[in-house]
Amino acid sequence: MTLDSYLEFVDHVRRLTGIDLRQYKRPQMERRLAHLRDRRGFPDFASYAAALSRDAKLLQELVDRITIQVSEFFRNPERWADLQHRLQALPPDGPLRAWSAGCAHGEEPYSLSILCAELGLEADIWATDLDGDALNIAMGGVYPERALVNVSQGRRVRYFEPVSGGWRVAPHVRRAVRFERHNLLADPYPRDLHLIVCRNLLIYLTDAAKQKIILGFSRALRPGGLLFVGSTEQLVGIDARDFRLVAPFMYEKTGAS
Ligand SMILES: C[S@@+](CC[C@H](N)C(=O)[O-])C[C@H]1O[C@@H](n2cnc3c(N)ncnc32)[C@H](O)[C@@H]1O
Repeated sequence: MTLDSYLEFVDHVRRLTGIDLRQYKRPQMERRLAHLRDRRGFPDFASYAAALSRDAKLLQELVDRITIQVSEFFRNPERWADLQHRLQALPPDGPLRAWSAGCAHGEEPYSLSILCAELGLEADIWATDLDGDALNIAMGGVYPERALVNVSQGRRVRYFEPVSGGWRVAPHVRRAVRFERHNLLADPYPRDLHLIVCRNLLIYLTDAAKQKIILGFSRALRPGGLLFVGSTEQLVGIDARDFRLVAPFMYEKTGAS
């Protein structure tokens, strides 16, 4: 009989996948995973854990459930319009160095690439996610109609081509984006960035994990660099003294550290 079967399960998942669920808010995560466990007919976390060791498909299903990959192009369009305006004001000292952290299926870094193309701005966009399967979809660059709800007719014509089952992102938009697997809670961060887009990821994390990431983002950005977060996310309850709010859900890195 275990004292906390969820925490034992969490340890098991870490050994199998490298994902540390202790850093995600427990109530929501436990509820999501218990629901999946029940749907697959396992009476408890111990038997579910044993099955995950034997069954790669079951394990991938669990990773998909942990990572929640909902996204769309230009999610919260008025925020992207504000970002485009700010990118225009950045001093042109070489390509824009940007990071889309937790990019899911790639809608976010491709949206950024479109903004840069419209501004005639050369861009080097590093797009990362914890989930390799999500990145494979992102590299494929094909999306269903519902991912394009916020894409105007003009942008569809210029930056997408219709294909069976949806829309393919044009090659010149894709060229500016490099996809790579990266765990924000374990892997090193880049330096000297103008922009970090990290949206709808921090909400799933504990304050301690969020704090670690915000510190890393602060080091990764140049002074004056921007951090664009999701429209339910604010840097509250943690130490974010290196950041100043400049617009809703848009922070600027201050200081020289
Ligand atoms: C809800 S999606 C957000 C997608 C996109 N940023 C947006 O706002 O539309 C959250 C993404 O964060 C990724 N993620 C979760 N934990 C992560 C971690 N520790 N490191 C990197 N990515 C992570 C998930 O795999 C998922 O693709």
